[in-house]
Amino acid sequence: MCGIVGYIGAKEAAPLLIDGLKRLEYRGYDSAGIAVFDGKDINMVKAKGKLSILDERIDKQGMPKGALGIGHTRWATHGKPSDINAHPHNDCSGDFVVVHNGIIENYKELREMLKAKGHTFNTECDTEVVAHLIEEYYDGDLAEAVKKMLAELRGSFALGIISKKEPDKIIGARKDSPLIAGIGSGENFIASDIPAILPHTRDIYILEDGEMVVLTDNKIDIMNFQGDRVEKKVFHVDWDAVSAEKGGYPHFMLKEIHEQPKALKDTMTGRIDINGVRIKLDDITITREDVSRIDKINIVACGTAYHAGIIGKYTIERLARIPVEVDIASEYRYRDPMVDKNTLVIIISQSGETADTLAALREARKRGARILAITNVVGSSVAREARDVLYTWAGPEIAVASTKAYTTQLVSLCMLALDLGIKKGTLSREEALEIMKHLKQLPAQAETILKNEEEIKRLAEKYSAWEDVFFIGRGLDYAVAMEGSLKLKEISYVHAEAYAAGELKHGTLALVVDGVPVIALATQDFLYEKMMSNIEEVKARGGIVIALVKENDKAMTNIADHIIPIPQTLSLLTPVLTVIPLQLLAYYTAAARGCDIDKPRNLAKSVTVE
Ligand code: G6P
Repeated sequence: MCGIVGYIGAKEAAPLLIDGLKRLEYRGYDSAGIAVFDGKDINMVKAKGKLSILDERIDKQGMPKGALGIGHTRWATHGKPSDINAHPHNDCSGDFVVVHNGIIENYKELREMLKAKGHTFNTECDTEVVAHLIEEYYDGDLAEAVKKMLAELRGSFALGIISKKEPDKIIGARKDSPLIAGIGSGENFIASDIPAILPHTRDIYILEDGEMVVLTDNKIDIMNFQGDRVEKKVFHVDWDAVSAEKGGYPHFMLKEIHEQPKALKDTMTGRIDINGVRIKLDDITITREDVSRIDKINIVACGTAYHAGIIGKYTIERLARIPVEVDIASEYRYRDPMVDKNTLVIIISQSGETADTLAALREARKRGARILAITNVVGSSVAREARDVLYTWAGPEIAVASTKAYTTQLVSLCMLALDLGIKKGTLSREEALEIMKHLKQLPAQAETILKNEEEIKRLAEKYSAWEDVFFIGRGLDYAVAMEGSLKLKEISYVHAEAYAAGELKHGTLALVVDGVPVIALATQDFLYEKMMSNIEEVKARGGIVIALVKENDKAMTNIADHIIPIPQTLSLLTPVLTVIPLQLLAYYTAAARGCDIDKPRNLAKSVTVE
């Protein structure tokens, strides 16, 4: 995820900015840059790659001098990682310079509008429109120009802005992306995250959505986007540097679980056009004619991404009526798959670098298939080698156990299925609209589930000594059960297995005796009664049942030992929500057992060897 740091005061800004960016390195990034005002001009140094490369460039070019500056580490969304696309960005004159975290949803319209007015663009980044808009609106008052610019933006953003027209200030603004102002003495700071400025101050203002801040070296004014002053309390940070990196959470995994509402929202940003009943996936070039020629789809992935693929199969078959096979990449590459030019192969990989997944991609491409990648990392190997790419905009995932990558893969697959279904004509306008509306509600519903965290924690602590756990479900619930079971085993080392509930009586039931925990997912309306019978079978043998059911389910309350409610949504979309309590259950079980949650034994985040 991108990082922002900004400084105004009496010290040399550049070393301080670089140090701040280094403190945000743990978040992951693909390029970095700084801009510093030297009393006459704003000088920028930017570089693709690690901060060490930026350091080398600074060594060659000389450290930019000056006591006002902004810096940025970029995690690419719009535009590949490159020197040019690295932030900061400027307008035509070079007078206005900005750094940005988030996604400007309407950047294309704005870019066209600005081009028509004579502005010239140098990068592929959505951010560049911000600098040009300020240039367009500037009439002697930077804060006024920023306000006018903000009124034009849709999407999510945290912004840092400096200008050589008014070099006594930094302006920041926030909507759906964190931004703080750090209070110093004769100096002030902005940052996207606390660790960036922790060596300089522990007193901060936390901006809320719809707020902007104007900082000089001895004053911080906070106002809303309309310009009305906002009074804020100072927040004193008492975290150490390590917990500050985790946003105050004890582990990255828990932080990433909590980032899901935002990650889901970001991934859908600008892609669901409710009014036009259209899905807009910019980097996907599959036409109506192409869709009519696709006679089958193979989804290929590893680990959690494979589990997302299983959900994708249900969704695509249901909405686009194209047969889908799902394969584990390490199996697919050696099974002589029947693939030709009419096959669409969907490769799912958070990192875009998993060796088996990449080898499967190459194998399918060699056989003539069209490759579409779903990945979280712009410019990754999978993204570069696929013909079409659908990016999940989850931000970097640091914990080995995947959480927000999975849920964003699910909404991406659903958007893709909608797109294919609309193009193929297998989906009515009404049905497509209904699904789109429910998709849009998922971030808020994910938030609701997270509010039930204490209850799930209590359950996990109660049962943390369990050694064998079974997860059961039918249809999409079975696919989520697989992911729930993987989460539990990978971080808590509890033996966990997922079964299609209908298969219980073909073997597993032999293992269900007094006190054996069974986590039962029953969110699929048309399979509900069948699940109820399976749960009765478990109860009759003394199993302890934790049931995940849609909220207000009275019937299950009388049977299951514990109920975890899932907000009402379409059965097709419940996996995005149902998995969240399972992630929390795994997390708190592992915490109670004292496991190394972010780095479980023997596992790696990105498996780049076979
Ligand atoms: C490793 C990770 C998993 C991940 C899998 C596939 O096993 O620990 O969390 O699901 O690799 O990774 P990818 O980056 O290809 O999605």
